[in-house]
Amino acid sequence: MRSEPVDLAARYGALAAIAGASEGLGAAFAEALAARGMNLLLLARRADVLEALAQRLREERGVEVRALAIDLARGEFPDALAQAARGREIGVAVYNAAFSPVGAFVEVDPADLLRVVDVNVRGPVAFVRALAPAMVARGRGAVVLVSSLAGLQGAPRIATYAASKAFATILAEGLFGELRSQGVDVVASCAGAIRTPGYAARARRDAPGTLDPAEVAEQTLAALGSGPRVVPGWVNRVAALLTGRLLPRRAAIRLMASNTRDLA
Ligand SMILES: NC(=O)c1ccc[n+]([C@@H]2O[C@H](COP(=O)([O-])OP(=O)(O)OC[C@H]3O[C@@H](n4cnc5c(N)ncnc54)[C@H](OP(=O)(O)O)[C@@H]3O)[C@@H](O)[C@H]2O)c1
Repeated sequence: MRSEPVDLAARYGALAAIAGASEGLGAAFAEALAARGMNLLLLARRADVLEALAQRLREERGVEVRALAIDLARGEFPDALAQAARGREIGVAVYNAAFSPVGAFVEVDPADLLRVVDVNVRGPVAFVRALAPAMVARGRGAVVLVSSLAGLQGAPRIATYAASKAFATILAEGLFGELRSQGVDVVASCAGAIRTPGYAARARRDAPGTLDPAEVAEQTLAALGSGPRVVPGWVNRVAALLTGRLLPRRAAIRLMASNTRDLA
């Protein structure tokens, strides 16, 4: 039986910031939070796409939405975020953006590998470090770090991306343990394949257990406060049990390689 959805605005504060919000899972988080009556601060690079989403949510949901076109790989984004919030309480913070070049490690442009670190590792650290102190001071808040099943073991052809997702999961778990007693809930969303434009452009067909972005967003928000990580979808939970716990590491890496072999 499903329990009633928690009133996130009442529990954490009525403004949410979503980093990487213009499409795919980030846009689904924006939809899900706007449907709960939350005001939004949306961050991504493409100003036109972001503003179109913002405008639609204003009209359909009657919430306040600000769009901030920004590259999260650039270190100065926390200042822009603070300015855009104009001193208002940010109750829910979602770091969803990621960069994932596919290919042999020795062939991918080194600048792209370092960009993975900037967007997927430095980005979430800077984002949470910018927002968490005010949450702790108020004694309430929620942080979602979007991670991946790819972060549960090494993943050939996306090795740097997978390592960055291991970082995100472990960061979220540490912060869960550190901030929980101060009223701030943190969760890592270890997603399997999601039907996003980014995934569709790379995968030839849906992997088993592929979910719609809305389902991943809903299951992730529902998990806030229940534990340090959530794996949306039962097929993905079985996969996580296999690769993360049951299989020897070599076998888990081989299984992962069979999934990433065909990625474009
Ligand atoms: N799709 C999957 O199958 C899958 C599976 C497991 C985990 N995940 C995780 O789920 C999350 C979302 O996946 P997705 O497929 O929706 O990704 P996506 O299609 O690549 O979208 C990512 C979002 O982040 C924004 N973004 C990317 N780089 C950015 C940057 N440097 N600065 C600002 N914004 C940036 C993009 O907008 P702009 O282009 O406008 O900047 C977009 O809104 C990622 O963290 C990914 O690792 C996805």
